[in-house]
Amino acid sequence: MIVLTPEWTALLYLVAAVCFILALKGLSSPKSARRGNLIGAFGALVAMVVVFLSTELDNIALILGTIALGTVIAVPASRLVKMTQMPQLVALFNGVGGGAAALVALLELPLVADELGAVIAVAFTVLVGAVSFSGSAITFAKLQELMPTRPIVFPGAPVVISLVALGSLASAVWLVLTGDAVASYVLLALGTALGVLIVLPVGGADVPIVISLLNAFTGLTVAASGLVLGNTLLLVAGTLVGASGTILTRAMASAMGRSVAGILFGAFRGGSTAGSTAQSDRPVRSSSAEDVAILLGYAQRVIVVPGYGLAVAQAQHTMAELAATLESKGIEVVFGIHPVAGRMPGHMNVLLAEANVPYEVLSEMDEVNPQFKNADVALVVGANDVVNPAAKTSPGSPIFGMPILDVAAARQVVFLKRSMRPGFAGIENDLLFEPQTTLLFGDAKDSLTKVLTAVKNL
Ligand code: TAP
Repeated sequence: MIVLTPEWTALLYLVAAVCFILALKGLSSPKSARRGNLIGAFGALVAMVVVFLSTELDNIALILGTIALGTVIAVPASRLVKMTQMPQLVALFNGVGGGAAALVALLELPLVADELGAVIAVAFTVLVGAVSFSGSAITFAKLQELMPTRPIVFPGAPVVISLVALGSLASAVWLVLTGDAVASYVLLALGTALGVLIVLPVGGADVPIVISLLNAFTGLTVAASGLVLGNTLLLVAGTLVGASGTILTRAMASAMGRSVAGILFGAFRGGSTAGSTAQSDRPVRSSSAEDVAILLGYAQRVIVVPGYGLAVAQAQHTMAELAATLESKGIEVVFGIHPVAGRMPGHMNVLLAEANVPYEVLSEMDEVNPQFKNADVALVVGANDVVNPAAKTSPGSPIFGMPILDVAAARQVVFLKRSMRPGFAGIENDLLFEPQTTLLFGDAKDSLTKVLTAVKNL
């Protein structure tokens, strides 16, 4: 049933597009991110309702049933997922977005087969959507540890990838020249294979960056679907996702001191963050929570460096309470935030915001690094790679070139971790064995609780 005139439809699509832009603006700061997210969701709702009110739809029951099914799966999934599993959830949602765009393009092909521009858009959508779908499925499986996270390289892989890529391009040309449905199915199959082949050799710390790259791909496929369907809102929304995904990919890659090409194809040159999980048996200095409390309680300046382990232990509230307790004793406490600490952009900011740590005490890497030399204690809570000096000193190391937090410059360094296992990149951290370093072994939440009690009793 068509209720809206084309003018009203265009106007409401404009409202939705403005919502998406305001959402991106909101998401650029932790303070406004929640509001940004809600504005974006509202824009998506407006867009969906407009489709129902402006188009003569067949199969309404099937459409509503599918939406209901998707909602029943997505709502609990989003609620139950742990913060540390957010990248894989994004990968999953992103993959189905790319896959859906590819399927819509396949269905539209018979209707647009004699319009060259539209068939080019169909070919693009099918290829890139299929790459995005299968590539995202592999990144999901890697991050969920359903398969090994290390780079998977088999003999002759570069040749196979090149052949599949050339085959995909050839079938895209075949599709554009003939508009043949068979060509579109071959393209779908080759694109799916290409997505798997491109992502298999990516490993370790690089996987979340590839998710962001595939997200940008999905945006571009959605934009191309907008062209096929003649829908301006899809075009605008897809372009926004494509552009923001590209910017995010570049920002993450540069925060890790790596190029996007190095991330995708580094394993063939032995340069990916493959890492090993070998642990050395060199001696370290470990101590008790009471000793760490004394170090902290008699310090003047403490810099806390949070990392992935803080999120795993869900120790943000205890960490915030410890910081507040130290401050109440006249000790200056600052949090040094590395741009890729944790497993997703802004992970530490979100985590600490949840525990109401004031934004003013969060310092970005460039701001905090000069302060380490004046810090009495650098308290490293569940961080490893982002403070590993190998990034500066070992040209052969997989993280070489990544800017790090300069905790080694502090008078004392205290690591809170459970074992001698390495971080995400799988490489040992020499700082753990330095004379100024003390280790407090245990789950970060347990350790912080004990340190907090001991600090209160000082
Ligand atoms: P990691 O290097 O992964 O180190 C995490 C540390 O936390 C490990 O030392 C681990 O040691 C410890 N840990 C884990 N669970 C713990 C628990 N419950 N209690 C106490 N300690 C615990 O983390 P990071 O320093 O935050 O570095 C992030 C890594 O992810 C980098 O390699 C980065 O490149 C990569 N990465 C990040 C992003 C973004 S955008 N954030 C994107 C892509 C890749 P134990 O196992 O011994 O406890």
